[in-house]
Amino acid sequence: MKNKKYEVRRRYDATATQYDKRYLDIQMTKYNEIFSEIEIDDSEIILDVGGGTGLLLDFMGNQISNVFCCDISFNMLKEGKNKHKANHFICADSDYLPFKENIFNKVICISVIQNVPNPQKTVREIYSILRCEGILILTALAKLFSDSKIGEITLKANFSVLKLWQLSIEDISVIAKKNDC
Ligand SMILES: C[S@@+](CC[C@H](N)C(=O)[O-])C[C@H]1O[C@@H](n2cnc3c(N)ncnc32)[C@H](O)[C@@H]1O
Repeated sequence: MKNKKYEVRRRYDATATQYDKRYLDIQMTKYNEIFSEIEIDDSEIILDVGGGTGLLLDFMGNQISNVFCCDISFNMLKEGKNKHKANHFICADSDYLPFKENIFNKVICISVIQNVPNPQKTVREIYSILRCEGILILTALAKLFSDSKIGEITLKANFSVLKLWQLSIEDISVIAKKNDC
């Protein structure tokens, strides 16, 4: 594993038990703003990339059954699995997702890509596992990513951008659709 990824995993492994206490309110604010823009249907298969402790599952409650959560940090996933025993938690690097192509209706990747060495590669990897016309929901820290940068990454991965906006807290957010299928 490259040094940066190793460091990131070590950092999240070490702080996993504190994550929810520290970030629950912040992440819930982001989810509220994002999911007021987009519908999710119970028939959909959804992947939360870099889903950490499964805060997104806390937010969704029992409304959606097919939500998979993957993350590079085993300890973050362990926290999630303790809360959501019925869901699938998978330890995986976002650049090498262990799923078939064209399988997910939606892929959600919230507050993750500032941690990866090559965000373009990550977004291309997400493209490959999304179904035709599948939806990407991506956010990144606004202090590190401008709206034009995140737009460019999304477009270069062959998505069409449906909405790109600054959340009220920390992140730039984009909703995009898989093209060319
Ligand atoms: C700020 S947390 C966000 C967690 C979750 N998305 C949320 O909204 O609470 C960033 C997460 O990205 C994960 N992560 C960082 N690099 C990753 C990679 N290369 N592959 C998969 N997960 C990664 C971290 O382990 C951490 O759980």
